Amino acid sequence: TYTNRAKMYALSYAHFEDDEGTVKQQLSKLFETSLKITLPDEPTIAPVVKICSGKFGDYQCNNAMDCWAKVKGKNTEFKASEMIESSSVTGPGFVNVTLPNKWIAKTIQKMLEKGMRIWAPKLRVSRAVVDFSSPNIAKELHVGHLMSTIIGDIIARLLEYSNVEVLRRNHVGDWGTQFGMLIEYLFEMFPDWENAGEQAIGDLQAFYKASKLKFESDPVFKAKSQQGVVLLQGGDKKYLKAWSTICEISRQEFHQLYERLGVSLMEKSESFYKPYIPKVLEGLSNQGLVEENDEARVIFIEAEEIPLIVVKRDGAYNYASTDLTALWYRLNEEKAEWILYVTDDGQEKHFKMSFYLLLLFFWLQVAKRAGWLPADENLYPKASHLMFGVVRGDDKKRLRTRFGDVIRLVDLLDGAKTRCKAELVNRGKAEEWTADELEQIAEAIGYGAVKYMDLKANILTGYKFDFDLMLNDKGNTAVCLQYAHARICSIIERSGQDIEELKKLDEEEERTLGLHIQFAEVVEETCLTLRPNVLCDYLYNLSEHFVIGSPKQTSRLLLCEATAVVMRQGFHLLGIVPVNKI
Ligand code: ARG
Repeated sequence: TYTNRAKMYALSYAHFEDDEGTVKQQLSKLFETSLKITLPDEPTIAPVVKICSGKFGDYQCNNAMDCWAKVKGKNTEFKASEMIESSSVTGPGFVNVTLPNKWIAKTIQKMLEKGMRIWAPKLRVSRAVVDFSSPNIAKELHVGHLMSTIIGDIIARLLEYSNVEVLRRNHVGDWGTQFGMLIEYLFEMFPDWENAGEQAIGDLQAFYKASKLKFESDPVFKAKSQQGVVLLQGGDKKYLKAWSTICEISRQEFHQLYERLGVSLMEKSESFYKPYIPKVLEGLSNQGLVEENDEARVIFIEAEEIPLIVVKRDGAYNYASTDLTALWYRLNEEKAEWILYVTDDGQEKHFKMSFYLLLLFFWLQVAKRAGWLPADENLYPKASHLMFGVVRGDDKKRLRTRFGDVIRLVDLLDGAKTRCKAELVNRGKAEEWTADELEQIAEAIGYGAVKYMDLKANILTGYKFDFDLMLNDKGNTAVCLQYAHARICSIIERSGQDIEELKKLDEEEERTLGLHIQFAEVVEETCLTLRPNVLCDYLYNLSEHFVIGSPKQTSRLLLCEATAVVMRQGFHLLGIVPVNKI
């Protein structure tokens, strides 16, 4: 049950090996031990270790203030460790710790030898579902879906790097009332659809618009469409076949986009959960949670006047019954410990409260009442909503073309690539590189710039789309980071030294290395706060702090290599392809 599992995640680092986990976790273990020795009767005090905010050390422990009354007069023991050069106390009880240069150098050396894998943070979950992208069949794939695809992929990458098994779920909307209309339109306009198949329909969005127009203007067609939904939901063979033909076209379109973005997703669409709905609702009914209300079946939520409808008056299931069942499936069948929904804030649909926020709030209340989720949100399993604001144009509205359509983000990617290519050609790269190289590098920089712009801001506020800003080679942009990385690569190359050989040497490195070893905790923080900008800021800081002196000394060259390796891993986690020359 969840309570047993939740206990496993109690606030202790005791289950980590001494040299495992982030620097913060390793230090926490040391502090945990000394807190236990000093206060043996207070097993619940968790160490609070942070990166040092002042200049008195590298890390600090902030527990002293809270437990001062208990510690007073006692002798504090601090286990000797090669991780600690010196410690001091400042302010009202901050214990500052300085890490020895030697330990830092050794830590980096070990990473260079074994690779970035060893800097993966350890999270307390082993399996997660990330529900992202999730477009609707035949309807438009808009900027919101595209951002969900990009952001969801990055969250999945971060978790995967942290050794979490991630089920990348595409919750495709393939089971709505729109299908009655689409299928009837298919029958009417393309009587030969069974032979002509997908070719008959061509552009699905135009098809959707045309069928919707007819639905709204032609009452006979409307009535037919409504019957069509009933037939489809009842499992009529012909309707099912037409339904899957339509779905297949969308699927191919989505797939092209995912391929282009380098995003992998596993579709478990709304229709997948259909067979499970009756069982799940029966379970909820047996627990006394489902009630009859105005001929519909509903679940009342504490302090909310309007209940959640799970079976409509006509007996049909709806969006909520599907999503509740998906949540049940993910928790009980897939045994996910963390479920993440990545959707836009939906502000345009509802003024007061976002559509998803409201729905998710309802589902989670139900899941808690049913005992699927613990009531305490600090415990696992848990469900989180990663919400983001969408890209806006100059007028602060969602980006639209002048025809009133929402701009397709793929056009934005194309635009960025085209501009990058022009810039590279301008700088004479067309003569210097092969045509393939030019193409690949322009794409890596262009796509990377768009993605990075999505991620570096607070994703909730959204941002203004501006090519000039995102393609600027100065400031916190992907282009600037690509430059920094390419510069380092060229220093290493020009040195003529064999880095692989150098890595084997035992060189004392310099104090500037401090930032590198924070990588794991930056990734951990990014995962736990679900804020990719934490990682972006870190990479930007790293590239800014890294002032390249003369790379003659071996240690300098290794420092270059370490920086490049950390940057590449960072890029990879942000779904950006690094370039070695620019
Ligand atoms: N298909 C929905 C939309 O396009 C997004 C689905 C999000 N995921 C979910 N489990 N409800 O708006």
